[in-house]
Amino acid sequence: MDLFDKLQCRPSPLGKFTSEGYGYYTYPKLEGPLGPVMKFNGKDVIVWSINDYLGVGSNEEVREYDRDIARDYSLSSPMGARLMTGNSDDHEKLEEELADFVHKPDALLLNYGYQGIMSVIHALVDRNDILIYDELSHACIVDGKQLAMAEKFVFKHNDIDSFAKQLKRAHRNAKSNSSVLVVTEGAFGMTGDLGILKEMIALKEEYPFRLLVDDAHGVGTMGDDGSGTGTHLGCHDGIDIYFGTFAKAFALIGAFVATETRVVEFLKANARSQIFAKSVPMPIVKSARKRLSMIRQHPEWREQLWSNTRKLRSGLREIGYNVLPAECPVTPVLTKGSTDLCQLIMRRLREEHGVFVSGVTYPVVPKGTVLIRLIPTAAHTDEHIQQTLNGFESIKDVALNSVSAEVQKKMTA
Ligand SMILES: Cc1ncc(COP(=O)(O)O)c(C=O)c1O
Repeated sequence: MDLFDKLQCRPSPLGKFTSEGYGYYTYPKLEGPLGPVMKFNGKDVIVWSINDYLGVGSNEEVREYDRDIARDYSLSSPMGARLMTGNSDDHEKLEEELADFVHKPDALLLNYGYQGIMSVIHALVDRNDILIYDELSHACIVDGKQLAMAEKFVFKHNDIDSFAKQLKRAHRNAKSNSSVLVVTEGAFGMTGDLGILKEMIALKEEYPFRLLVDDAHGVGTMGDDGSGTGTHLGCHDGIDIYFGTFAKAFALIGAFVATETRVVEFLKANARSQIFAKSVPMPIVKSARKRLSMIRQHPEWREQLWSNTRKLRSGLREIGYNVLPAECPVTPVLTKGSTDLCQLIMRRLREEHGVFVSGVTYPVVPKGTVLIRLIPTAAHTDEHIQQTLNGFESIKDVALNSVSAEVQKKMTA
């Protein structure tokens, strides 16, 4: 069979969403300057779907800096991979500043978070090693695991007994030259629950392992200084390799891992997607430095983010919605229903109330449930929150369906 013909028969994980909803439910175009209010299909909407947690992307000082820096440096420069011709003082300075921000000895800048962490996982373990990961890990960890040559064990989401079982199994299976790498997330982006890092780290003494934490949603938002979920949970030192992306709180592109210098040196020579790819352009690097320094200078952005998060959640709960007990700003509303209900909620909120939310259904969440995910940011105002709550109030006749405790437990472990 012709390969291209065969592709037409392959089911897409997004199913009906992609086949019928292109441009509306999937690949929608949010236009106008980035911010809490943007244009969708020509109409103003309050946006709860972008991860600009701290409002950095809509900050005027950042925008002006970006304009200046793009004029001063071309978007091409530096050309080549960092290993060859693509390095600069700014790339190195940014790494020093990131390491300092997340309280680790050293850091390595990554072109993209997704490929970066895949390569880091791939590089860290060889065929003698054992890789243990959370079953609800982000796709980039799953793909990194596929690349890795190590033996792989998976544990039930945030289940310490399941983790301990796999860890003991790993140690039982270990050869004399085996090492164990554990990968999980700091803050899970769909359900908003935090990785059980402290409990996992407590097992290190008896069953040694190295811990890599993907803190995409936690960097900048969690911890009193923004240094992430480990700081928030009081176990940051137990994270051996900390991963953060610029794609969320920094509202940029690029990412980093922070760890011991000897590991950074190793990755500089072995993380293939970074060695054999063009380095991050200078305006992005300069802007990342600027954004980091502003995030550090403005702890009140984080406070505003949390204050907005609390207002949004308590408002939704007062109406009667089932807001999952998320511990990071991600605000997931769970209801019972099908893809049709998910689409109806999204459509009515957008068309009747100017409120743009994203929703997911099976297979991302258990069959028969709908998850509406709202991402509050520091840039949302009380009026945005109130207008959104009014929207949710007016659709509650269709949207408020309780999910059984058993199904909810499945999602929040
Ligand atoms: C948990 C998690 N890890 C990694 C990534 C990938 O990062 P990037 O967008 O920088 O490629 C994302 C998405 O941004 C994410 O949500």
